[in-house]
Amino acid sequence: MNDALSLNGKTAIVTGAAQGIGRAIATRFSRCGARVVIADIDETLGIAAATELGEGVLFEHCDISQAGSVESLVDRVVARFDQIDILVNNAGHHPSDPRQRVPIDKFSPDLWRSKIDVDLHGTFYCNRVISAHMVQHSSGCIINIASVAGVVALRNQIAHDAAKAGIIKMAEAMALELGPHGIRVNTISPGSTVTSATENLFYGPNGIATDKAEQMLSFIPLGRPGMPDDIAGAALFLASNLANYVTGHNLVVDGGWVAGFNRNF
Ligand SMILES: NC(=O)c1ccc[n+]([C@@H]2O[C@H](COP(=O)([O-])OP(=O)(O)OC[C@H]3O[C@@H](n4cnc5c(N)ncnc54)[C@H](O)[C@@H]3O)[C@@H](O)[C@H]2O)c1
Repeated sequence: MNDALSLNGKTAIVTGAAQGIGRAIATRFSRCGARVVIADIDETLGIAAATELGEGVLFEHCDISQAGSVESLVDRVVARFDQIDILVNNAGHHPSDPRQRVPIDKFSPDLWRSKIDVDLHGTFYCNRVISAHMVQHSSGCIINIASVAGVVALRNQIAHDAAKAGIIKMAEAMALELGPHGIRVNTISPGSTVTSATENLFYGPNGIATDKAEQMLSFIPLGRPGMPDDIAGAALFLASNLANYVTGHNLVVDGGWVAGFNRNF
């Protein structure tokens, strides 16, 4: 392994890492030497992931939409490892259920709240408590997982668009505030990525692309959907020493979809 990518001796918390993109990030970080805490509400998948990834990876239950749950997670991790070096805010709800894809006049306040509570408020709760811890140590790295939906508005996904755009701006503001304390804050905005959250909507059983997916793929210059490890590679770069001078950045990892967006429609 390239030494510049080594995370030896670092402790990372990855939220929502029981599966999907978060799990791929936890895997990459662990292979590069980090101790990784998988923080998720799904205990079954979280314990299975930690067991499979092996030594240096553990599961901690946490509901990021509850400020108290986040504070208790941080207390437990600090008691065990003293320091948190890396935070990846990945937990979120993808609007994969077609019933959640409706125009604003049909978008219920409950649906709005459930999305904002996890993606936006949850990310804020984690950032708030863990950045305070990092300030005490004058170092740290925070990576927020947003979405291309935070860059280019998508129809019928108003809460998703708003939450992800909010995360991108939150990270930029934090980069300004925390840079003087030696803390870097960046965002990754994935494009459509194959996980259990998207496979029903786009990729069908066994990853076979639906008509909807075929149409979307035709707009992706690299001609394929993202895989969780594509996002994990970007996260490893941002967490590593190779990104020592990178902060306040939103790294779009989408096979080129955003680059061609205005020409496609
Ligand atoms: N898959 C995509 O196409 C795609 C595209 C752009 C952005 N994203 C973003 O990437 C992130 C991961 O997406 P994914 O596709 O891997 O999703 P996923 O559904 O496969 O995994 C999400 C994980 O988050 C956990 N989680 C949900 N609510 C939580 C809470 N309140 N507290 C703690 N954990 C919670 C779930 O239990 C699950 O393990 C999300 O923020 C999503 O919005 C995904």
